[in-house]
Amino acid sequence: MKHFLCINDCTVSELEALLTLSAELKAQDKNHTLVKTLDGKVLAMVFEKASLRTRMSFQIAMADLGGLGMYLKPEDIGIMGQREPIKDMARVFGRYVHGIMARTFAHQTLIELAEYAGVPVINALSDWSHPCQAMADMLTIREHLGDLAGLKLAFIGDGNNVARSLAFACSKFGMHMTLASPSGYTLDADTVSLANESRDCVTLLDDPVEAVQGAQVIYTDTWISMGQEEEARSRIQDFEGFQVNADLIRHAPEARIMHCLPAHRGHEITDEVAESKYSVIFDQAENRLHFQRALLARLLG
Ligand code: CP
Ligand code: NVA
Repeated sequence: MKHFLCINDCTVSELEALLTLSAELKAQDKNHTLVKTLDGKVLAMVFEKASLRTRMSFQIAMADLGGLGMYLKPEDIGIMGQREPIKDMARVFGRYVHGIMARTFAHQTLIELAEYAGVPVINALSDWSHPCQAMADMLTIREHLGDLAGLKLAFIGDGNNVARSLAFACSKFGMHMTLASPSGYTLDADTVSLANESRDCVTLLDDPVEAVQGAQVIYTDTWISMGQEEEARSRIQDFEGFQVNADLIRHAPEARIMHCLPAHRGHEITDEVAESKYSVIFDQAENRLHFQRALLARLLG
């Protein structure tokens, strides 16, 4: 594994090893025995969009492992591809640092960075996918429910970046995923056929109640992703009936409630459900740090 751009690019054993290492580093951290395996290593952290969890967890993970995370936003380095070509920026990064993580609008930007940088590139969210989130989520589900194989995750809402990475993760780890979305917001056919390549994994539905039947996990994400702010009004109308609320979770009363955050309470999830007994949203947020450490140790170590 040279880069980490999409879960579907990785083998099951690579992903399993990352989860195992995440859990090991989490335990070492608790026992104050974390070893500084990235001593002298530098990670460029390029952000085209806002971030709380991803930015903090990567920067802290680098510091924890003895390295340096260097936060770079468009005001510092210019908008990628506008001030100078992405392939030039990639090669300059490659001369200075040992790895790049980037949060971009276009997924193609990551692909171009990876093609030219000569150092590992990590997808810290693009419009196509959010693999680090989905892997931290797999760690969280495993901690709460044990073996992943055979579990059912119901995703209610937008078939966007987070849903796509979860579909690939469910496919790799032997889970089943139902996705209930309004018409026009489901996952694209290519993603579904890739996720269903080796076995039937993803089922697309338009009824949230049907989707959550028998689910051990109910997951949602914002209806208005970063970059879609101008569509806010129409999206809020289109997603009516797709809220994760008390009425819906009655149909799977013990399902763990998950959200990648940031949450828009009153839109895709109610405050009551986000704060409920089975909500694990802050475990997910914490596990971003543990997964990030494992990923950096693996790619930069
Ligand atoms: N879940 C997630 O990626 O959060 P941030 O956008 O705050 O990084
Ligand atoms: N789908 C959301 C995820 C945020 C972590 C977005 O792209 O804004």
